[in-house]
Amino acid sequence: MDRFLTADDLAKTLRQDVREGLEATPKTLPPKWFYDERGSELFEEITRLEEYYPTRREREILIARAPEIAAATGARTLLELGAGSGEKTRLLLNALNGTLRSYVPVDVSGDFLEEAAARIAADHPGLEVRTVVADYEQHLHLLPAGERRLVAFLGGTIGNMPPADRLGFLTGLRATMGPGDALLLGADLVKDEARLVAAYDDAAGITAEFNRNVLHVINRELDAGFDPSAFEHVAVWKEAEEWIEMRLRSTRDQTVRIGGLDLEIAFAAGEEMRTEISAKFRRDRLEAELGRAGLALAGFWTDESGDFSLSLARPAA
Ligand code: AVJ
Repeated sequence: MDRFLTADDLAKTLRQDVREGLEATPKTLPPKWFYDERGSELFEEITRLEEYYPTRREREILIARAPEIAAATGARTLLELGAGSGEKTRLLLNALNGTLRSYVPVDVSGDFLEEAAARIAADHPGLEVRTVVADYEQHLHLLPAGERRLVAFLGGTIGNMPPADRLGFLTGLRATMGPGDALLLGADLVKDEARLVAAYDDAAGITAEFNRNVLHVINRELDAGFDPSAFEHVAVWKEAEEWIEMRLRSTRDQTVRIGGLDLEIAFAAGEEMRTEISAKFRRDRLEAELGRAGLALAGFWTDESGDFSLSLARPAA
């Protein structure tokens, strides 16, 4: 395992993020801190909800198009940014079976990586599996070099980055790519507002629990005194920005002590703190954003209902 990020680095980033976010007006917390063990389980549950279509739709596209993607890329190395849900990875690995020599899963946490990697290695004898613990917004240039690499960034996670970060990320990624490399990007598409909101505010309340989980993480990691039950889950569609925003709304006036930061933060009744944006795309905007980063669209697929997209992009000539 290659480690470009230690537990200490992560702890430091969490402290910075929480201090900055809670001292800002309006308050914000970055979505990357949802995913401790409980948060990852809740996300898995979300992917099985009737209302949450992205995972299912992306899988449909991969089932239909993985062979085309494999033929178009002839990838020798598959780099996967973000711990792959086993199944998507399996679909890609099987399709790339003829040309693939190595698989490189990249994630900020080593915990799940090793397990997943061992399973994949067992199923694909002869495939070199090399796990990398890294933050893909910081360490792209450190990822293993090679010819004909396919970088997969699936699930629509690109939508969790604000537009400026997105451009920075894509530009940084482009800078690491050779002429034979390609990017496979999963992005959710703009659709009917009611469906979008339902996907982020499910009837069973799993997304609400997922949202509040960030408070449990901060309580544990930073010795904080959040009462998660004093925060309501909010999901709104922001028409102008074309993104879903998740927020936590304080149900009362309250002051929360964050012992690890020696900080006291006041929340007014009804005050909302943003915990995630999840941007939704249109083909034109994706193509334009990729273009600004020096990437040219080489393939674009959606599922049959047009809910979700996979883009294949290469360094522009
Ligand atoms: C898969 C990380 C992109 O934004 O849809 C699910 C995370 N947030 N429900 C998304 C998420 C609320 C998800 N990502």
